[in-house]
Parts: sequence; structure tokens; C-alpha cells
Amino acid sequence: MSDTTPYTTSDAGIPATSDEHSLTVGSGGPIVLHDTYVVQKMQQFNRERVPERVVHAKGGGAHGYFETTEDVSSLTKAALFQPGARTDLLVRFSTVAGEMGSPDTARDPRGFAVKFYTEQGNYDMVGNNTPVFFIRDPSKFSDFIHSQKRRADNHLRDNNMQWDFWTLSPESAHQVTWLMGDRGIPRSWRHMDGFSSHTYMWINAGGERFWVKYHFKTDQGIECLTNEEAAAMAAGDPDAHIRDLYETIGRGEHPSWTLAVQVMPFDDAPGYRFNPFDLTKVWPHADYPLVPVGRMVLDRNPENYFAEIEQSTFEPSNMVPGVGPSPDKMLLGRLFSYHDTHLHRVGPNAQELPVNRPRSPVHSYNRDGAMRYDNLSDPVYAPNSYARRLSPSASVPTRRGRSPARWSGRRTSCTPRTTTSVKPAPWCATSSTTPGGTGWCAPSSPTCGPGSSSRYWGGCRSTGATSIPTWGPGSPRSSSPDGKPGSWRGRTGGPGAPGLVGEGNALRTSSVTPLRFAGPGGTGRGSAPGPVAAG
Ligand code: HEM
Repeated sequence: MSDTTPYTTSDAGIPATSDEHSLTVGSGGPIVLHDTYVVQKMQQFNRERVPERVVHAKGGGAHGYFETTEDVSSLTKAALFQPGARTDLLVRFSTVAGEMGSPDTARDPRGFAVKFYTEQGNYDMVGNNTPVFFIRDPSKFSDFIHSQKRRADNHLRDNNMQWDFWTLSPESAHQVTWLMGDRGIPRSWRHMDGFSSHTYMWINAGGERFWVKYHFKTDQGIECLTNEEAAAMAAGDPDAHIRDLYETIGRGEHPSWTLAVQVMPFDDAPGYRFNPFDLTKVWPHADYPLVPVGRMVLDRNPENYFAEIEQSTFEPSNMVPGVGPSPDKMLLGRLFSYHDTHLHRVGPNAQELPVNRPRSPVHSYNRDGAMRYDNLSDPVYAPNSYARRLSPSASVPTRRGRSPARWSGRRTSCTPRTTTSVKPAPWCATSSTTPGGTGWCAPSSPTCGPGSSSRYWGGCRSTGATSIPTWGPGSPRSSSPDGKPGSWRGRTGGPGAPGLVGEGNALRTSSVTPLRFAGPGGTGRGSAPGPVAAG
């Protein structure tokens, strides 16, 4: 009778002779170098760690699905939000400031990151359990985080440092109030809401655009901890929230959240009483009530924490057709930051890992790099002369399946941030003569040449047209000559897939003009009275 008990092997699959004894010269003699099994075991151990997340290092998560229970097709064409659609997903919850081993019950915002594996590519909604944030300009993010983490000298966290930053950053007051209030420490991840916090754009099949904010309302009810309860749990079980989620799902109790959105008509933004894209503010529900969308359920625990949670990579830049960014400066900063940190933290091919891989086909001309698994076949460039259009069903303009990037705009030679005369928006008169004013209060800049709009995201962009300077499918650049998505492996003559400008992952906002708001606040440098250095 053969023994079917599994045996230990090396990583090359070769049976190991022992897990307990090294090969030695005689029973008490020195270990020999050619015991490569033991040598490689040590080598592997020495390389087990990858960098922890620079923020949100401590967390846990689970798999589940999202079901669209309502009809919001008039607001977005995103496949995952069509009535009845069911989409697999991964959620990771986290604290912000603590390191990997820090207690789950710290007073800190909680991360609420969702990766939807949609048929049009991955859609990552990387939010928090609060609808606002401490700052409104990405240039302050690293300073903010430094103030919440550890001192340089004694490597201790420091209340004085935290409050120094907050009190010198008055825009943080809303979030600080939330954090220090009764809802500052959730009882568990199941007992808290999740928010996109940022405003996003939704685009429907007809090309109409809306501004939306996401609210994931916990179906378990909101429950929070007192300081005393949190401290006791931190001492007794620093991993209380990881344990709670894992054990609850393990018992077959599947936590759920109801997703609703606040919807602002696109044209409301310029006239709204404050900058609706300011991350330190909420939209009053009286102005924009919640519109239900669907339900998120978590029903499966990870089998390997490292592979499925630690190596998961959520990127706010992963947006699918029907979803786009808003002019929230923080969001725009984040669109760069996450992919960049993943190149460092997980590696250039992080998106090939099973947990990060889209379930939809990937047709990318990106290639090679460390640990590349799914390699490109010829032709390896675009445009090329070997057109091979996929079947219509496969030619859904997925993140990587659409026409390769083509910037059809023209950059002008103006230097951003140096203008001395900025035409004011109606409500930001203080910036009208501000040297270097940038952002939303600067609809046009005399230093941008003719035919260029508009300082946008701090730079000049060619409009290519003097009218219709707008975002999204209304843009003159929004459709290819043949009106079809770009062809994989084929000639890619068109400037882009139809309807993809300014949505999904394609931020080809070549024709944009800043919006102006009819209210105070939230403009950062654009309205700052002080001068801003050039360059
Ligand atoms: C300019 C502002 C911000 C920057 C530059 C930034 C940057 C980062 C970075 C570098 C990470 C680590 C990612 C990783 O290693 O996988 C991270 C994680 C995270 N951030 Fe931000 N962040 C910003 C603002 C925000 C805001 C406003 C929110 C919520 C609305 C947020 C939510 C999260 C979450 C939930 C994670 C953890 C994602 C995960 O579970 O893997 N961040 N952020």
C-alpha cells in the first residue's frame, strides 16, 4: 500500500530529506554548504518581507460580491452598475497611521478599499470610513502623514506633532472633529460606513455627466468603542478587527453594506455655494439626497493573507468606462500616487498577481520586468501593420484593451504657476491679482498661448478648439474616426475610443476649462492670498 501522505519538497518540488536536521560532517560536525535545502530555506526566509504600505499598513480584508439592485443606468453606463449586475470584489479595511503590528482599535480613520473585478477591467474605489479628509491639497499629504507617524529623534509618536500640524491646517477641523468624536473608533469593520469621500464623475450611455459621492451604509448598524473599551482591546487583542471579520465570515455570517450615491447634476457645480470638489466638505443631504444603487456582501475569507491582502494593490486611477475623476485636487494627486507606490512595494508586475489581475482580458503593450508571467507576443508595438481585431464581444474597451495612449492635444510652451495676472472667478476676487494663482480660480491665463486654454491642474493645455472646452464625451476628441474602440494589435489610427475621454482610466482631458464655483472655500493655492513660487 503506497503512502499518500504529502511530503515536504524544496521550492523546485524535489523531496526534502529532513525538515529538522541539517547535513553535517558526522553527527556532531559542521554543516556542509551543499545542503542546499537548508541554505535555500534560510535564503527564502531572509527575503520574506516586502515593504509595508507607507500608510494604511495594518489591515485585513475579505472577498465578496456587489449586486446592483436599483436602476441607475440613467446616471452611469458602467457595466457593474447596470440593473441586476453581480460583480466579484475584494475589500481591504485598515487603520491609517499605525504600522503592521499596531492595534486595530486605535483612534484613527479606517480605510475602506474595494476592488470590483468588472467585465470592463478592475474598478478600485479607495475610500475611508469618513466622508471628508484632513487636507485638500495633495502637496500636504506627506507632511500630514509625517506628523501622525513617528518623530525623527526618539521614533515615538507625538501628540504635539499631530496637533501642531492640525492647528496649522485649519481645513482639517472637520475631519479632526469626526475623529475625536463618538464615531472615531469603530467597534469593528463591520460596524462602520464607507465613503468615497471624493466626488467622482458618472457618465451615462448618452454621454451625460453627473457628479457623485459614494456612501456604503453598513447593514450591521454603526457601533463604536469608547476610549476605555478601545484601550482594553488594544491590550488584550491588538488584532481584534481582523479576527472579528475572519471569524464572522467563518461562521457563515456575511456582513453587507448598501451602496447609495449623492448625485449632483453636472451643471450645478459651478454655481454651488461652495466648491463641491473640496474634500474637507460634505454635500448636505438636503441638497443631494442618497440614491440607492446596490448591496455589497463579504462572504469569503482569504486563504493566504499575504497573497490576497498584503499584496493587494488598490489604485484610485483604476476607473472603468462610465466612471471618471472629478477636479478634486486630492483625488488627482492620488491618481498618480498609488500605482507609483505599488511599483515600489509589490513590483512592476503587481497587477499580474492573482488578487490584482482583472477578470477581463488584458491586451497591453507593456512588457517584461521582474517576475513577468504573462508575456506579450508579436507585434510588440503600436501602431503596427498586422491588424487583428478581436471579436466584438472581446473588444470591450477594457483598461488595457482600448487604443494605446494617444495624446492628440498640443502642449504649449507656457510655464505654469508663473502668471502674474489671473482672471478671477466671481467668488475668488482675492486671487485676481495674486502672483502665481493656480487652480479653480484661474479660468484662463495670459501666459498660455492662443489656442491653449486654460491652466488646468497647474499647466496649460491646448484646447484645439475655442469652443466646447469641456470634459467627457462632449469633447471634440472623444471619438475615433471610425467610431470604434481601438483595435488590439491593429492599426490604431483614431485618437481614442468613443466616449472614453475623461472617464475610465483615460484621462485624456485635452480640452478642458476649469469650472468656477459661486462660493467660498476649498481652492487652496488658487485662492491663497500669498504668492506662489514659480516652477
Ligand atoms: C493626496 C492624498 C493621498 C495620497 C498621496 C495617498 C497615498 C497613499 C499611499 C501611498 C497608500 C499606500 C498604498 C499601497 O501601498 O498599496 C495609500 C493607501 C490608502 N489610502 Fe491614501 N493617499 C491619499 C489620500 C487618501 C484619501 C483622501 C483616502 C480616502 C478617501 C485614502 C485612502 C486610502 C486607503 C483606503 C488606503 C489603503 C488601501 C489598501 O487597503 O491597500 N487616501 N494612500
